[in-house]
Amino acid sequence: MRKTTRSSQPTHSATLNTAAVRTAVRIRRLLPEPPPLAIVLGSGFDGILGQITAIAQVSYEDLPGFPTPRIQGHAGKLLLGRVQGVLVLLLCGRAHFYEGHTMAEITFPIRVLAELGISTLLLTNAAGGINPRFRPGDFMCLTDHLNFMGVNPLRGQRPSSEAPFLDLSTVYDRALIRQLRAAARQAKVRLHAGVYAAVSGPTYETPAEIRAFAKLGADAVGMSTVPEAIVARQCGLRVAALSCIANRAAGTSREPVSHAEVLAMGKRVQQQSSKLVARFVGLYSLESFRARRSR
Ligand code: HPA
Repeated sequence: MRKTTRSSQPTHSATLNTAAVRTAVRIRRLLPEPPPLAIVLGSGFDGILGQITAIAQVSYEDLPGFPTPRIQGHAGKLLLGRVQGVLVLLLCGRAHFYEGHTMAEITFPIRVLAELGISTLLLTNAAGGINPRFRPGDFMCLTDHLNFMGVNPLRGQRPSSEAPFLDLSTVYDRALIRQLRAAARQAKVRLHAGVYAAVSGPTYETPAEIRAFAKLGADAVGMSTVPEAIVARQCGLRVAALSCIANRAAGTSREPVSHAEVLAMGKRVQQQSSKLVARFVGLYSLESFRARRSR
């Protein structure tokens, strides 16, 4: 069994790509052929695991380059299984920038997914609600983001001469957003659409920061997802992202923000989050089938 150490982490693009190819080869040896759809399960979304017919799984610790999450609620394993009969690859838990991992480390699994031939990625997370219409327990599909993490995961990578700057005018795929909205209607889940502000953490925000983010157009705030979405777009994946609104953001209610509250809300909405994700998987599979047939 191989444990990932910080010093073994690659950082430059060529090295990163070679390492991602190597880890993808290892996954191919351990798991049957991966499907086109992968889902990163963040806080509040692991309820879907109760609905999965598992085919094979492997711990992140056994995958070179995969950072191991150290935070409660993030299992740290790759699981191939069927959701309502549809084959999906699940990343159960993620490592975060605030844990001390580098941007290259936390986005490495996304590069591996691209090497595995994954074409569509659903990212999930727990977030604080800024928009006053959002209630804890609601969901939000991301239409766009604001990157306040202070870093970009592509910094320092040697750009290709054709595309030195990655276009981010459509990070979150419009067709996948429509599928998420249809899935929410089917699952009878309150789903908003909005802008996610990403912060580095590990502190929660101050009320003044939240007021500023609200003025800048943010509807929710969280500490993940954006680096993965950027790298996924760089790798040419279609991306969708979903937040569980776990709490009201700092200063928007009398309550302080606490991790215990975030975890408790994740548990409370487990049924809805798994229904929503399962319906999305069903619709995604149907749409992909239709698209193949009409070609
Ligand atoms: N802020 C940042 N990240 C979060 C929050 C929050 O209020 N809730 C869940 N993740």
